[in-house]
Amino acid sequence: MSTSPLGCFSPTTGRGRNRRADGIPLCLVSTETAAPKHTPLRLLVLGQGRDLHSERGVECPGDLPAPSDPDLVARARAAKEALGDKVFVLGHHYQRDEVIEFADVTGDSFKLAQQAAARPDAPWIVFCGVHFMAESADILTSDEQTVILPDLAAGCSMADMATSAQVDDCWDDLCDAGVAEQTIPVSYMNSSAAIKAFTGRHGGTICTSSNARTALEWAFEQTGGVEGTGKVLFLPDQHLGRNTAVRELGLSLQDCVVYDPHLPGGGLTKAQLQAARMILWRGHCSVHGRFTVEAVEAARREIPGVKVIVHPECRYEVCELADEIGSTEQIITKVAAAPAGTAWVVGTELNLVKRLSTMFPEQSIAFLEKNVCYCSTMNRIDLPHLVWTLESLVEGRVVNPIRVDPEVAHWARVALDQMLALPGPTHKD
Ligand code: 13P
Ligand code: SF4
Repeated sequence: MSTSPLGCFSPTTGRGRNRRADGIPLCLVSTETAAPKHTPLRLLVLGQGRDLHSERGVECPGDLPAPSDPDLVARARAAKEALGDKVFVLGHHYQRDEVIEFADVTGDSFKLAQQAAARPDAPWIVFCGVHFMAESADILTSDEQTVILPDLAAGCSMADMATSAQVDDCWDDLCDAGVAEQTIPVSYMNSSAAIKAFTGRHGGTICTSSNARTALEWAFEQTGGVEGTGKVLFLPDQHLGRNTAVRELGLSLQDCVVYDPHLPGGGLTKAQLQAARMILWRGHCSVHGRFTVEAVEAARREIPGVKVIVHPECRYEVCELADEIGSTEQIITKVAAAPAGTAWVVGTELNLVKRLSTMFPEQSIAFLEKNVCYCSTMNRIDLPHLVWTLESLVEGRVVNPIRVDPEVAHWARVALDQMLALPGPTHKD
């Protein structure tokens, strides 16, 4: 039933039934290094030390201008002007205002991936976002182009919650339970290139918060449709997976199980894996996971007629209480379409919520939860890092290039292309 070209073979660990569904033995060489089963991530203080196999902080040893330099804006402007069409600056909606000011295009992860792929003439793509986004841009651009991340410490804690070795172990568990053949992996954009490559090798697709529904529908179609018996392995954000499957596709909460990579067998019995339709990876966003039901209830008590809009990385219970759910771009579009006087509380990253309140002063826009901080890694890209990046390019030095291993990039691209071939992003109206 599975469209996975690899059946139960795990190219990283070399374990599993190393034959394709048609019985042909597989002989694949992987450039990824196998790690022992269930190895916890070693502690790494943000911005210190190096761990190039991880989305976590790696040092950024640049000769940065002082943040207090009053000429930073003028320096950024001059450098960008000097570079002209040679540089294209992409800015994710969670970036600081001081950085967004210099972005040629702003967007959610889907739009930025499309935009990166649509700029073949720019030799340098400066990605003001986080590491997995820059990796995806590198995969989608030509070999002649270089993608640059102004601060290599800008990772994503959610993406780090699924390592390649853990996901291979999971696939082995699905093989042991006899369900891998009917399982399609769907990986959220917020994942490392290695996880995207796993997804491509096993016949799956990438999704973002703006097209998760379409991606899941496509995945289920590969194994008999949503009404059938096929399964999806959803990586690494359990909340986006659950919200989409239950709220948008009509599956039940009982159809979903959570695979914990830190427990033997994912903490699930074979019978549980066999009965499940959605196998959700135990990952979450450290920012969106903090929005609470209590905060939504308090907003409804305190602000008459308030509309609650949240990102689908929020927990299921929170999404159930919201009026609107959407990707960062969709949140902006919905707020923009509302009449003057509308009151909103917004459950997403604080830089974007602050920007919304200045973009739409005729509406009342508040942050959903007082105890939630900025995304610390998105926030690492600041004006000093951007100035350093642009001025280095003017001097002919490329700092912080993001280069994905060609074998990994090949299979990750298969999964990314599958996503880009799906009908455009949809969201729940
Ligand atoms: P969007 O694709 O909605 O921009 O989300 C990216 C992200 O990291 C949200 O936390
Ligand atoms: Fe990752 Fe969450 Fe930050 Fe988005 S907001 S980049 S998911 S840690």
